[in-house]
Amino acid sequence: MLALEVKNLIKSYGDVAAVKNISFQIRVGECFGLLGPNGAGKSTTIEIIEQIQKQDSGQVFYFGKPPTEALREQIGVQFQETALLPRLTARECLEVFSGLYSERIPVPELIKLCQLEEFADRYHEKLSGGQKQRLLLAIAMSNRPKILLLDEPTTGLDPQARRHLWDIITNLKTAGATIILTTHYMDEAEALCDRIVIVDHGEIIAEGEPRNLIRSHLPEVIVEMPLSERVTSDRVKNLLPNERVLILGQRLQISTKKLDQVVRALSDAHIPLDGLHVRQPNLEDLFISLTGKALRS
Ligand SMILES: Nc1ncnc2c1ncn2[C@@H]1O[C@H](COP(=O)(O)OP(=O)(O)O)[C@@H](O)[C@H]1O
Ligand SMILES: [Mg+2]
Repeated sequence: MLALEVKNLIKSYGDVAAVKNISFQIRVGECFGLLGPNGAGKSTTIEIIEQIQKQDSGQVFYFGKPPTEALREQIGVQFQETALLPRLTARECLEVFSGLYSERIPVPELIKLCQLEEFADRYHEKLSGGQKQRLLLAIAMSNRPKILLLDEPTTGLDPQARRHLWDIITNLKTAGATIILTTHYMDEAEALCDRIVIVDHGEIIAEGEPRNLIRSHLPEVIVEMPLSERVTSDRVKNLLPNERVLILGQRLQISTKKLDQVVRALSDAHIPLDGLHVRQPNLEDLFISLTGKALRS
């Protein structure tokens, strides 16, 4: 059963073609990721789904049907920025929002679900970034939504607060929520999403399960080493004419299916191997290989 279907969405703001022709389907219970760099069109897509923006053309179907007013109540939205009334505690914010809905999760349950206990009675203005995001997530959950839309829920959080939010999102997923989230963190998409689309310049450039996508596009392993006087791009490219060699900042990257031969060639040429690091490719590598640029540029 499909929770959501997006068909041939197109949206421009004046001259800016924000969403060029985006289609995807999301099954009930799935955690679906829209992954892409800043300006890719993620928020525009999400806002069209939320009915905050009107598309120029294309359709959105919720549980197989076109949108209705009643549907708004079944969608939970966590905005990138949400204006909360001043001088309210976290608990009071939740009470205000859940008062708007007929179908709702009781406030104490929301507090537990999103782990707000420790600061529930603090003014929301005093919360840390991670605490604020957990509150916004609880607000998004307050109408017991069938579909939860999260637009960059962890942007700007420190690593620990991000992990904490991942745990909560994982709990919501386990509880059966259908989740759509946007992110420009590839590790986040890999950790949370059953399926993703990668968007760039308003278009989908890849779609699938994160692991399968990586495996099918990038069967290689990645060898990384710091650049130095003895490890230069020219030298390595000459040594390994058949491998893909990339410079990223101060590091050199070799993508290869023949790890043994690569290491042997480097070693035979007396290239120091101390800083050498071998790893599996990730979504960031996939993005770079598809677009030629880094995800967080
Ligand atoms: N309200 C707006 N008016 C004009 N241009 C906009 C507006 N919102 C977004 N854009 C532009 O549309 C493109 C896609 O933006 P957005 O959907 O916010 O991308 P993302 O969320 O992936 O960063 C960008 O080029 C952005 O500058
Ligand atoms: Mg955005």
